[in-house]
Amino acid sequence: MDQRRLVFFPLPLQGHQTPMLQLASILYSKGFSISIIHTNFNSPNPANYPSFTFHSISDNLSESEASTEDLTLLLHNLNMNCLVPFSAILSEIMSEVGVACLITDVIWYFTQAVADSLDLPRIVLRTNNPSSFIAFTYLPLFREKGYLSAQGSKLDEPVPELPPLKKKDIPRIHTRFPELNDEVSRKMMETSKAARGLVFNSFEELEGSSLTLVRQHFQIPVFAVGPFQKQVQASFSSLLTEDRSCIPWLNAQQPKSVLYVSFGSIAAIDEAQFHEIAWGLAHSKQPFLWVIRPGLVRGLNGRGAPLPNGFLEMVTGRSMIVGWAPQEEVLAHPAIGGFWTHCGWNSILESICKGVPMICLPFFGDQMTNARYVTDVWRVGLRFEKGLKQEDIEKGIKRIMVEKEGKEMIQRLAVLKDNASVCIQKGGSSYQSLESLVAHILSF
Ligand code: UDX
Repeated sequence: MDQRRLVFFPLPLQGHQTPMLQLASILYSKGFSISIIHTNFNSPNPANYPSFTFHSISDNLSESEASTEDLTLLLHNLNMNCLVPFSAILSEIMSEVGVACLITDVIWYFTQAVADSLDLPRIVLRTNNPSSFIAFTYLPLFREKGYLSAQGSKLDEPVPELPPLKKKDIPRIHTRFPELNDEVSRKMMETSKAARGLVFNSFEELEGSSLTLVRQHFQIPVFAVGPFQKQVQASFSSLLTEDRSCIPWLNAQQPKSVLYVSFGSIAAIDEAQFHEIAWGLAHSKQPFLWVIRPGLVRGLNGRGAPLPNGFLEMVTGRSMIVGWAPQEEVLAHPAIGGFWTHCGWNSILESICKGVPMICLPFFGDQMTNARYVTDVWRVGLRFEKGLKQEDIEKGIKRIMVEKEGKEMIQRLAVLKDNASVCIQKGGSSYQSLESLVAHILSF
């Protein structure tokens, strides 16, 4: 048996696929051979990973299923549809080469039973962070206590079980199928407990106390081996085409003068919010680079989002709009002074690693919890607590980019950034955790 072959199964969403492929690259550098099973929906480009073996399976999603905005439905359908083709391809790989371990996204809950039936150890990667994952484990209790139905001013009440969260920070998924969402969450948690290990793209110095809670709750080996992006040469996992013309534009801007605005790969806003953001940016007088990806504005049936009249005239010469940016390179650019983010975990970690203060606009799920950690625990960002209004946006941008508050955040970020570098060096927490993960896999 090939003790050093690992089979990975990434979830086909940008924020999940990128860290999974990064983890595969990290374990490849530790001497493992890598096979990737992937759906034909949002498939990675094998040409970018010449050392890996790729196996495509049919996910049987119709066009409308693949493009649904209902994440719960998408995750449920993927888990249903992939069972048969995944089992077949995994058995085939195992009959040919022998496999030490299967590593899947936590959300691929159906794979635990497949792994069990083949007597193959399964390790899970949670691409969100430990602090939000622990909040997900409290959801049944929060529902029982009525926290999930809090409205109005009650949303600002604290959650005593999980400080510093407020009721509005509890991870919620907007779906037309709440019962299905409960089922997906329950299966995800149950099968994570049955896995042989749980891996996070985070590090002890950043989330030590949440990692302790995760260890207590799941009672399986937990490995915090992040930040992944600092341990791989470059990520080639973009599902959309990057518009690199923003780099020469950034080269021409003053140091720390540009606000980078991007809400990740899934979050969607309505036209009123879009206009509020546009006017806030225009009135801030600050240079900005804004990612308006296809689908960012809801309900336009594929049409490009119309910017409000007069907006472009106001921002000409100090702005750039792209459909998708090379984000890590942008955040590392000396011209960037702030990041207005939806608080996806990859974006936050990338911002921390590059020392960029944040404006938080969380939309759903872990983003809510992440935003609270950014503002109240790490204190490296601010948030519009009273909704999205252009006057507040304008003031918030100034607080981050111009005022003392932003400079103090940069000082706190310098410590986090340093920790993020030290933890992956020999003897560091993530370095040791990675060594333990390798030893754990080799012990199977
Ligand atoms: C999703 C969920 O929304 C998020 O809450 C969860 O934490 C992870 O899965 P997504 O919305 O895509 O992720 O956000 P994020 O985790 O920030 O990942 C986005 C990735 O796309 C980042 O690695 C970022 O660098 C990249 N990106 C984003 C680009 O390369 N270019 C862009 O223009 C925008």
